[in-house]
Amino acid sequence: MELFANKREKGVLDMVDLLVFKQGKVVKIGNLVFSVVFNVLGNICFSRDMVKLDDERGTSEMKGHIWKFMECGTTPILADFFPIFDGIDIQGQKKKAKKCLDNLFKVWEGIIKKRREEQHCNESDVKKHGDFLDLMLANGFSDDQINYMLLEIFPAGTGTLTSTIEWAMAELLRNKEVLNKLYSELKKVINSNPIQESTIFQLPYLNACIKEVLRLHPPIAFLPHYASETCQVMHYTIPKDSLVFVNLWAIGHDPKIWDDPFSFKPERFLNSNLDFKGQDFEFLPFGAGRRMCPGLPFATKQVHLILACLVYHFEWSLPNDGDPLMLDMNEKYAVPLQREKPLLLVPTRK
Ligand code: HEM
Repeated sequence: MELFANKREKGVLDMVDLLVFKQGKVVKIGNLVFSVVFNVLGNICFSRDMVKLDDERGTSEMKGHIWKFMECGTTPILADFFPIFDGIDIQGQKKKAKKCLDNLFKVWEGIIKKRREEQHCNESDVKKHGDFLDLMLANGFSDDQINYMLLEIFPAGTGTLTSTIEWAMAELLRNKEVLNKLYSELKKVINSNPIQESTIFQLPYLNACIKEVLRLHPPIAFLPHYASETCQVMHYTIPKDSLVFVNLWAIGHDPKIWDDPFSFKPERFLNSNLDFKGQDFEFLPFGAGRRMCPGLPFATKQVHLILACLVYHFEWSLPNDGDPLMLDMNEKYAVPLQREKPLLLVPTRK
């Protein structure tokens, strides 16, 4: 994780450069963050950018493939409820999923092929890139293994981070006091130095804001798990092997746990030991236990960096001087949890 700090930092520097150029213009925050994260992951996996940050069409197309894939993975399948339909693709879901997979595999197919060819050259000519692909090839992974490994990383990483930053910016815009407090903290700690990963964890208010966003808008609202043994939960018996959904959204909004649960109040996380590392069951945005999110160390670093840069370097307003208090905050249930209306903002350099 530490080795890749420069790749995460480069991603946000590219983002700042683009936003300077986009001053006064409308920016679709979700698309921007998606392409930043997609490129950071591209650099970690293949040592290269995957999309042009200002190529709206390319980004939308790539995002479309990933979103469709997530949709396929989360659409209820009739055969799961009525096993009699097992083997018949009555909803056409298998066909759709196969198409999604093919589209995604095409994204990196050429890169893997080229790297394999390089490997067949003289051993001394093999260029070491120091990325995940090098590692997978050196360990003899087949194309299928690489494809499915990358399939875990890219959709899980891009969607969740995009959703978190979009919600964070929307909440900050609607809560000017919080935004100002966050900016003061950033100004004091960063003090005109380049924003680095080593600095961002010295920012307790930024950390509290991110936790509050994840409480109110957990990117993954339901965690599907199987009961590994029969157990009692409250007065209910949960038989072994039953599918259980942990409703993270409901836990995060439970008035028995949270005071004024629907309000955005990062202060509740200041001077509190509540963390998202899976030990505090009232706050589990990354899950808990053995199936907990393996991307947590990457995600927290990247989210802190992106949000710090967006707030530190730019003033933000709504198109046509819209009133942030009128911003539509409706959620659309999907994985990840999305805004019903994409967030459009106008940056001005501070
Ligand atoms: C704010 C960002 C993120 C949140 C809130 C989040 C949350 C979660 C949650 C709740 C789960 C399911 C845990 C469970 O079943 O108990 C999960 C799984 C997963 N996450 Fe994340 N995640 C985030 C970012 C990332 C990133 C950046 C990556 C990779 C680069 C990633 C990779 C994965 C993978 C591969 C799984 C599946 C693990 C498995 O099936 O066992 N996540 N994530």
